[in-house]
Amino acid sequence: MRVQTLGLAAVLSSSIPLASGQCSRDALQAAADHYVATRSTGLMNLRPLLIENASYIENNNATALTGGVLSQTMIPAHNRSTIDTTACATYTELIVVDEAKPYVIGTQIRYKATNTSSSPDGPRYGGLRAVLIDSVVSTTGSWMFNASQTLSHVIEENWGPIVDASKRDTRATLQQAADRYLDLWGPNATAAAEKVPWGTPCRRLEGSMYTGQGRPDDRCDVGLPEGSSPPNTNRRYVIDEEAGSVNVLCTFQTMQDAPDSHEFRVEGGRLRYVHTMTVCACVFGGR
Ligand SMILES: *[C@@H]1O[C@H](CO)[C@@H](O)[C@H](O)[C@H]1NC(C)=O
Ligand SMILES: *[C@@H]1O[C@H](CO)[C@@H](O)[C@H](O)[C@H]1NC(C)=O
Ligand SMILES: *[C@@H]1O[C@H](CO)[C@@H](O)[C@H](O)[C@H]1NC(C)=O
Ligand SMILES: *[C@@H]1O[C@H](CO)[C@@H](O)[C@H](O)[C@H]1NC(C)=O
Ligand SMILES: *[C@@H]1O[C@H](CO)[C@@H](O)[C@H](O)[C@H]1NC(C)=O
Ligand SMILES: *[C@@H]1O[C@H](CO)[C@@H](O)[C@H](O)[C@H]1NC(C)=O
Repeated sequence: MRVQTLGLAAVLSSSIPLASGQCSRDALQAAADHYVATRSTGLMNLRPLLIENASYIENNNATALTGGVLSQTMIPAHNRSTIDTTACATYTELIVVDEAKPYVIGTQIRYKATNTSSSPDGPRYGGLRAVLIDSVVSTTGSWMFNASQTLSHVIEENWGPIVDASKRDTRATLQQAADRYLDLWGPNATAAAEKVPWGTPCRRLEGSMYTGQGRPDDRCDVGLPEGSSPPNTNRRYVIDEEAGSVNVLCTFQTMQDAPDSHEFRVEGGRLRYVHTMTVCACVFGGR
């Protein structure tokens, strides 16, 4: 109980705008922070953020709130959240390096704005309540999985806000960059690759495998698919113009319909970083 009280106190003490029927950046950040904080304290503590009948999807599969990793506790060594004020959603990347139960988890949360003045608990998270939690949970056995190695690369990268607002890409540009990359798997990989806005340097973290070597000419267009392959479908997006980030959860059909997360950092319309999580113990290209 003590932990729960502390967690809520932290959220309440930050100056969150009260419910306005809108999904403000501050409220969404507070909500995502609450999700992160409760990973180490448990589902009970997460519940105040959820609507009564909130849904949970784990690895593209409808799951009971009590049925998957959401009900476990874990100590994240890394967390980073992006904010989509248009879709009223957040995306959080978590890395847990626990040797017995390591995880790299990508979670999209979708919220609705509620009228908190009618809540007996008073306003929290600007009146936001999570309607859907949608996680891709990679762990030992997932594609190229090694949480500590993933962490070692992630902490070297800069995903900080794009401070100069005039340099931020539009939502449409961000989504298009993600879609064009994910369309590498489709009828013609060669034609698709010509449309991807590759940046230089670009560093791809595929599970724990990194294409970056700290060089100014590091590339992401290495080891690409060839010819024709099944598409990446069931795409769900969280787009943050301020962070230059677009996350997509999808079904990676080329890898045995694996649950998959791809997050892109885009700067000046071009890919800067790519992070992937794929819950598949399959051979690449195999079916
Ligand atoms: C989440 O990450 C931030 C730094 O980005 C850190 O200050 C905070 O303590 C982390 N939260 C948890 C619960 O680990
Ligand atoms: C869940 O809640 C939403 C909004 O609060 C409502 O529209 C919907 O009917 C509810 N669904 C169920 C199955 O109770
Ligand atoms: C989805 O969840 C159900 C119930 O937990 C389980 O039986 C099934 O194997 C899961 N499907 C996939 C594709 O993980
Ligand atoms: C919120 O609820 C209160 C009490 O039910 C009501 O008076 C008020 O008009 C509502 N506000 C909005 C924005 O719906
Ligand atoms: C993960 O990678 C590190 C190097 O970064 C290595 O020392 C460790 O043995 C690897 N762990 C596993 C389980 O392969
Ligand atoms: C794929 O696209 C490339 C480049 O546009 C083109 O040269 C090639 O003929 C296409 N291949 C097929 C099988 O359509």
